[in-house]
Amino acid sequence: MSQTKFLLQESELPRRWYNIRSDMPTAPQPVLHPGTGQPVGPDDLAPLFPMELIGQEVSEEPEIAIPDEVLEIYSLWRPTPLFRARRLEEAIGTRSRIFYKYEGVSPPGSHKPNTAVAQAFYNKREGRTRLSTETGAGQWGSALAFACKLIGLECKVYMVRVSYEQKPARRSMIKAWGAEIVPSPSEETQSGRAILEEHSDSPGSLGIAISEAVEDAAGREDTAYSLGSVLNHVLLHQTVIGQEALAQMELADAFPDVVIGCVGGGSNFAGLAFPFLREKIAGREIDVLACEPAACPTLTRGLFAYDFGDTSKLTPLVPMHTLGHDFVPAPIHAGGLRYHGVAPLISQLVRDELIRAEAYLQNDVFASAVLFAGSEGILPAPEAAHAIHGTLHAAKAADEAGEERTILFNLSGHGHFDMAAYDNYFAGKLKDVALDEDEMSRALEAIESLPSPA
Ligand SMILES: Cc1ncc(COP(=O)(O)O)c(C=O)c1O
Repeated sequence: MSQTKFLLQESELPRRWYNIRSDMPTAPQPVLHPGTGQPVGPDDLAPLFPMELIGQEVSEEPEIAIPDEVLEIYSLWRPTPLFRARRLEEAIGTRSRIFYKYEGVSPPGSHKPNTAVAQAFYNKREGRTRLSTETGAGQWGSALAFACKLIGLECKVYMVRVSYEQKPARRSMIKAWGAEIVPSPSEETQSGRAILEEHSDSPGSLGIAISEAVEDAAGREDTAYSLGSVLNHVLLHQTVIGQEALAQMELADAFPDVVIGCVGGGSNFAGLAFPFLREKIAGREIDVLACEPAACPTLTRGLFAYDFGDTSKLTPLVPMHTLGHDFVPAPIHAGGLRYHGVAPLISQLVRDELIRAEAYLQNDVFASAVLFAGSEGILPAPEAAHAIHGTLHAAKAADEAGEERTILFNLSGHGHFDMAAYDNYFAGKLKDVALDEDEMSRALEAIESLPSPA
């Protein structure tokens, strides 16, 4: 019988995170202080983040050691399995080989605790007792609640209102790990109140929830802010995924021609892709594909520009592909992909043509999710289903070209808390939304006066 699962021993857990900054052909541009237009320094960030993470954010070291305490918690679910999707290959009749790395085996059900545990650890070591954060789909909020519980910190989660209403069970999970949770926009912060005054029925967005969580942390000595994606240190922590996958592909006697992930802020995609991009930068040929929703097409249609990371303009200016900080994406079911920006590291690699991107409509994505569940068994999170859809595209393109390719994708989480979305799909109630050109132009007006990147 041919092998389906490729597993590593606990002793083979990566001991270091991989820092792609040290290998990038073009250095990423600095993050700017919005008041002075100058690069931000450690003192600007100290009210929000512990010094170790500020150091990791700008580090040029190729690798950074993972603390033993973090490895010990990782070992609850890592190394995660890598599967050969034989039954999916058969279902679609492709000549290509499809592999996937499955991050849904973590206690909260996604890749997010890879950074949540590290962030909670450094915050605790530097004396913080409480973390505030935003969550879209609820995966990040539950990952941080889980990490804070195990490490011994309080946690406050601002959950995007539309997801808060779509996913009551995620709320319960966050509470079960002892965190406090409110729908965003909320009455608890100035940013939330200002939005509610203008749009009392606002569905919320990650940009708004980030404003609330940053405001919360900036106003309290005991509290730091924790972000689940976008920042360099978050992407760094996720690279355990790709390092394990490299070793597991070797066990399978294979190497990918195509590496695929979905992109919200970019962390799971980077986690899988960066260790493979290291190989690509060193000369190997790999097609690296980022998949996003057509309702929030940051990489495929956004501008590369300086923009705020949040709606209320509380964060520094970040050089990234953006749709504008006050853009509120349509309430599609992949809540974790509803973000106006994307990680600066990914943006720069897209500009350098090391990564390409595609955008999909949600009914097509759910059709691929159901096909996957019907062959491989796992019900994917709607976010991860974008990577499945991208994989099916890539396999079809290979078949049409008469080629056998090896495709690897990241199945970033399971969809057990997303069954209302599946129900809506089965009932034919999901709206296909591609971002309207006029709405995009309107949203981009908000960044016209900001500095331009080189
Ligand atoms: C399962 C899953 N995949 C992907 C994402 C997108 O985030 P990122 O692009 O940071 O991986 C999320 C975000 O909530 C998620 O829950």
